[in-house]
Amino acid sequence: MSGLLAVVGCRQLVTLRGPARPRMRAEMRELGLIEDGALLVRDGRIVAAGKYAELKGQIVREAEIVDAASGVVMPGFVDAHTHLVFAGNRADEFERRIGGATYQEIAASGGGIWATVRRTRETSEDQLLEHARRHARWFLDSGTTTLEAKSGYGLTTEAECKLLRVARRLDRQGPLRIVPTFLGAHEIPEEYRNRPEQYVETIVGEMLPRVASGRLAEYCDVFCEPQVFALPSARRILEAAQARGLGLRIHADQFAQSGGARLAAELGAATADHLEHTDRASIAALADAGVQPVLLPGSVYALGLDCYPDARSMIDRGLAAVVATDFNPGSSPTASMPMILSLACTRMRMTPAEAITAATINPAYSLGRGAEIGSLEPAKCADFVVYRCGDFREIPYHFGVNLVNGVWIGGARSAVPET
Ligand code: NIG
Ligand code: FE
Repeated sequence: MSGLLAVVGCRQLVTLRGPARPRMRAEMRELGLIEDGALLVRDGRIVAAGKYAELKGQIVREAEIVDAASGVVMPGFVDAHTHLVFAGNRADEFERRIGGATYQEIAASGGGIWATVRRTRETSEDQLLEHARRHARWFLDSGTTTLEAKSGYGLTTEAECKLLRVARRLDRQGPLRIVPTFLGAHEIPEEYRNRPEQYVETIVGEMLPRVASGRLAEYCDVFCEPQVFALPSARRILEAAQARGLGLRIHADQFAQSGGARLAAELGAATADHLEHTDRASIAALADAGVQPVLLPGSVYALGLDCYPDARSMIDRGLAAVVATDFNPGSSPTASMPMILSLACTRMRMTPAEAITAATINPAYSLGRGAEIGSLEPAKCADFVVYRCGDFREIPYHFGVNLVNGVWIGGARSAVPET
């Protein structure tokens, strides 16, 4: 194989070309659209993206031709918030919520995150890898090529490291690119129920040193919520993580306005995630600090709630918004970014173009990979998806329909092999 690839027949080539930074305000509606486009790739990197008529002279005979069949070609989705590694599912809780129980009531009765922790602790690393591979296939089938993966269903030093090793092994196996985040502060484990401050000390004194010295994670996250990790504990953990060189992402203001977003601004976190209950003053603080909001409408939808985050105010205020699946067995069991785009448009009044920017280039920057992925520009990784439709707006419009025709990562047609 020559390592040369030419993608032709792109009715719309959605490049997301633009300034080398996250996109804000009106920039979020500029997709760098090229009609009748072509993409040239060499050794997994993009060489050129432009009009077919202008590039066709550069297509050499040895090049492998990918015919997009008059479809849309876009960068692969970058999913910046997932809880990828866990065992089992919680379909039983889904049914209980339909019967009227709330997410918090289920958690208080021994279900919720804790139910998944019990299952995950007793599952071996190899088995967890198999589960993660099964889920990775769902992501890939929906057009995602990079995803962030949090730990958080182990809650002991050993079990948290086990989850992060699974993420690392999956990244090495490919084809998906995986960015690992340590989320030991996801829930207070049962054995620490009566002394939660001791668990915070275990995270700071034992887990973080192990995670950092083993280079098991790039980011640290905390579920910052009054009943779980209140502000002082969240601050202590995040400052300790920062001192060890980890970037910060924070579950903030999901169920209550608790100051999580303000903390993210104060600490200069990469992202503040959820933000369903964030007020305007906190949005302003995020804007001033350049923190990217990661909005997770899938969890609002799947919990049967109506408190979608105020994406319009955030975009108007100049925040470089991101949307993500929050894939997890409790509040958001979807791996489908197209479904998230649909919710972003219909529930959060983002335009299709804004939603696509929030699912590609903006999350790439939020993960420290803006120079490598998230747009189809020369020198970047050839991570792209061919869709069976001629207009990018059809992707959120046909909700629940998978229009993905093929996925390429680093210039290679990708599938997660069955094992
Ligand atoms: O982002 N809220 C905390 N964590 C997840 C839910 C995890 C679970 O229910 O298993 C979230 O929604
Ligand atoms: Fe989450």
